[in-house]
Parts: sequence; structure tokens; C-alpha cells
Amino acid sequence: MPQVLIIHSSAQIGESRKENQGSYTRQMARLLKDSLKGRGVRLVERDVAAHPPGMIDASFINASRTPENQRTPEQIERLRESDALVDEVLRSDVIVVGCPLYNFGIPAPLKAWIDNIVRLGRTFTMGEQRKPRVIYGLLHNKMVVILASTGCSGYQPGGCREELNHGDKAVRAVFENLGVHAFEYVVMEGVCEDAPEEIEAKWTRSRLKIDEVARRIQTRWRNRHCIN
Ligand SMILES: Cc1cc2nc3c(=O)[nH]c(=O)nc-3n(C[C@H](O)[C@H](O)[C@H](O)COP(=O)(O)O)c2cc1C
Repeated sequence: MPQVLIIHSSAQIGESRKENQGSYTRQMARLLKDSLKGRGVRLVERDVAAHPPGMIDASFINASRTPENQRTPEQIERLRESDALVDEVLRSDVIVVGCPLYNFGIPAPLKAWIDNIVRLGRTFTMGEQRKPRVIYGLLHNKMVVILASTGCSGYQPGGCREELNHGDKAVRAVFENLGVHAFEYVVMEGVCEDAPEEIEAKWTRSRLKIDEVARRIQTRWRNRHCIN
């Protein structure tokens, strides 16, 4: 049974459409979850906003660069949380990332999660040659679903704020670097500036897209199941 890992990162804990001050990405994730029910997938959720992973520092970087069989007990302990987060990613076939745009970037806990799961020898490796050193992503055959929400509009390709998008675009770049080729997007733009009827129309499109993404996840798994 394929595993779908959902990462929540909005600081808002409620759902946007139910409460005035809730989160669109959380609501999108919940709709995707509802739509995946009965489709033969295992769902796992991680709320990095509620439980932020530790920040990386020199001890983390040095431990992660030390070959596994040479690590001290302190270094093994230093990497324990990261190892658990990496294991969760490696066990998952689909990774759904709730991606609110905060100050043109991603929420700090989501960045901390990413810093913990990008691990030499576990999620990427380096080429043999020293120069140029090429990174090889190790996350093969996984799909990443990005649920993005932004207060203003124009951050997507071709938009007037495209250059300012260091949010979902950065998340995609990280996963591409880790070897992911399959991406799905659901985007709610302009949630703080658009008229209510415009937001309503966008929400309707998002709901349809979420159902489509759920179907694609199911189809992808079925196809892989047949091949294996
Ligand atoms: C701390 C903070 C920073 C934000 N920064 C931006 C920003 O730089 N650009 C933008 O368009 N919207 C910005 N917004 C609006 C959010 O992107 C928008 O409310 C989005 O829906 C957040 O996702 P969520 O609904 O899942 O919490 C910001 C909101 C917050 C709370």
C-alpha cells in the first residue's frame, strides 16, 4: 500500500474556510486526505509548525559528513531526529507539502524540516569525481504535491511577482535536487487581496484540482503495482 506523507507548516491552526483566521494549506491538505480515503493509500501526517524540527548547526553538519561507521555516540545522537525524518520520507511514495508564503519564503519550521531531510548518503549522494562534483538525488519514484497559498497574486510562472517567489518554487528546487521528477501543484493565490467572489471561484478550481491529484496518486500507484 503506498504511503502519503502530509507536511503541515502553516502557523495558523484552523481551516480558512471555516474560520476567518485559518489556513488555506491546511484545508487543502484535509480535502486531499478526504479525497484519498478509500483509494488504498496509507496516510501519515506531520505538523512541523506545531512540532518544529531542530535547526541544523555545525555539529549536525559535521556529524552528517562523518561516514556512518566512524560516528561518535554524540554524533549518532545528534542525527537521531534527522534520521527519523529521513526514514519517514524514504518510506513514503507521495510527499504532500503545505506551503504558505511567508515574507516571500517558506515558514521557518518547514525550512528546518527540509534541512533535516537533505542528508548526504541518505537522500542524496555526490559523484565520484571531485570536480565537478555532481549531486545525485536518491528520492526515486516519488511524487511531491505542493499545496501553496499566497496573500497576493502573480508568484507563479509568468506572473508579475514570479521573481519574488522563494516559497513553493524553492521547495520544488530542493526536491528536484533530491531526484524527484513528478510534481503536482494546487495553488491559492491572492487570498488576502482578492474580492470574496474571486476567492470563491479560485477555491472551486482548487477543489477540482485536489480531486484530480487524488485520482493521479491512485492511478500512479496502480500502474506501479502492475509493473512490479
Ligand atoms: C507571517 C506572514 C507572512 C506573509 N508573507 C507574505 C508574502 O510575503 N507575500 C504574500 O503574498 N503573502 C504573504 N502572507 C500571506 C500568506 O501567504 C497567506 O495568508 C497564505 O494563505 C498563508 O497560508 P495558510 O493560509 O495556509 O496559512 C504572509 C502571511 C503571514 C502570516
